[in-house]
Amino acid sequence: MADKKAAAKRKSAKKSEKKKFYLTTPIFYVNDVPHIGHSYTMIAADILARWHRMKEEDVFFLTGTDEHGEKIQTAADKRGVTPQQLVDEIVPKFKEVWKLLNISNNFFIRTTDSFHEQTVKKIIELIHKNGDIYKGEYEGWYCVPDETFWTELQLVDGKCPECGREVKKLKEETYFFKLSKYQNSLLEFYENNSDFISPDYRKNEILNRVKEGLNDLSITRKAFKWGIEFPFDKNHVIYVWVEALINYISALEYPGKKFKKYWPPDLHLMAKEIIWFHTVIWPAMLMSAGLELPKKIFAHGWWTVEGKKISKSLGNAVNPLDVVKMYGADSFRYFLMREVSFGMDGDYSEQVLMNRVNSDLADNLGNLVNRSLVLAEKYSGGAVPKTDKKSFLAEKSEETIKKASEYLEELKFHRALESIFSLSSDANRYINESEPWKMKDRKELDAVIYNALETIRIISILLYPFMPQTAERIAEQIGFEKDFSEKRLKWGLLKAGTKVNRGDVLFRKVMKVNLGE
Ligand code: MSP
Repeated sequence: MADKKAAAKRKSAKKSEKKKFYLTTPIFYVNDVPHIGHSYTMIAADILARWHRMKEEDVFFLTGTDEHGEKIQTAADKRGVTPQQLVDEIVPKFKEVWKLLNISNNFFIRTTDSFHEQTVKKIIELIHKNGDIYKGEYEGWYCVPDETFWTELQLVDGKCPECGREVKKLKEETYFFKLSKYQNSLLEFYENNSDFISPDYRKNEILNRVKEGLNDLSITRKAFKWGIEFPFDKNHVIYVWVEALINYISALEYPGKKFKKYWPPDLHLMAKEIIWFHTVIWPAMLMSAGLELPKKIFAHGWWTVEGKKISKSLGNAVNPLDVVKMYGADSFRYFLMREVSFGMDGDYSEQVLMNRVNSDLADNLGNLVNRSLVLAEKYSGGAVPKTDKKSFLAEKSEETIKKASEYLEELKFHRALESIFSLSSDANRYINESEPWKMKDRKELDAVIYNALETIRIISILLYPFMPQTAERIAEQIGFEKDFSEKRLKWGLLKAGTKVNRGDVLFRKVMKVNLGE
């Protein structure tokens, strides 16, 4: 009897266990402060983290900083400081920007954290134990800014094929990882997990390169010291990329409870230039260490600024802090996600950002909220009126909920926003066409006000992952609780009698481009 009870209890505990969602961004190099490109990945990841929390999943959203390697060492040397001093100075700048952008990461890992070092050594030992590491000599080219090895054949006009910058010749003793051994297992894995590499259009390039054959990978460096010591030879430090990838394991306190709960990653998010490391090298390392592989790698495109690659030497690396100061975090978040189809490249210009703020945010959404609240103040005593009349907005809202949710699941952020803002336009049109200011019938008037406010409530929940501050301000103004869970995405939950509190307009129009003057 007691056994039966215990079994039933275990069963129900299991049922109530939340689904987990483990999401990561790249860990960024800290040779310089963050720019809009880094912010883009962070905002996209934050949207997904918030969305999965809205669905009551147990989300672990990880980001952090990649602090070792020759690139950091060189940057520190140039500045006349130690690498440790340099990274300690820059890391807070990343954290500051993420805070300002309302990024809701659960953890921030630094590769100079000592627990990371310990995990890296443990994983390298597993790979070694599996017979996949051997000593040799690397002769070839190296791109310091990308921390990437290239063969002579891969170079384009003698330069790095990825970034076009100078490469340097290396000839040094190294330890290799038997990447070549995993060619077939990788191809088989891609075959059986068809959306592992996303979007689809990024898949072929990887597949073709893997089919051509894989070179073993140099995984230690001897020429400099700024890295984690290779456990089998203290004259070497571990190659920065190999170590950096392991951050996804160390952040979960491998091999403890957290690791057991969240591993494997549900999604590694990044831009397209580092997809090779995540779809080829990383899975091979995990196979060798006997760990489960991530479920999905998604690579988005690159932002340029006014048509040019973001670069320190061009001085065009738009500082997210300036944009947020001028336009607010939510407008910036909205613009980046609305402007470009996630996966494709995009071009940033303040003029386009300004146009979006004025037309979509101020004229469409801001206007809808403001005028609906004015109607409630004027015609229903500053409270949500009662009605049992549904307008076409009820059906349109349900449709939008369905569409926007599907788009969010598919990482089609711009489509999700497009559908939410189309609902907002419909609500504006509904108010225009029903002309409540001319209405004599109380019931009809109440219906218009209720239908507009309820549509806004639904819009605010759908917008919450994208624009959390705006969603909260709308909740305060309409007077409903700040519960942005997916289960509240249902028509008719706005309670009659709720007092509205019209505050400042949500978005002010911007008349001229201000930044960079
Ligand atoms: N440290 C490595 C990643 C290691 S992950 C185990 C690295 N760092 S990085 O600082 O160069 O960051 C690269 C990432 O920053 C890109 O993959 C992308 O997420 C983001 N972006 C940097 N510049 C970008 C653009 N111009 N446009 C879009 N995303 C950009 O690589």
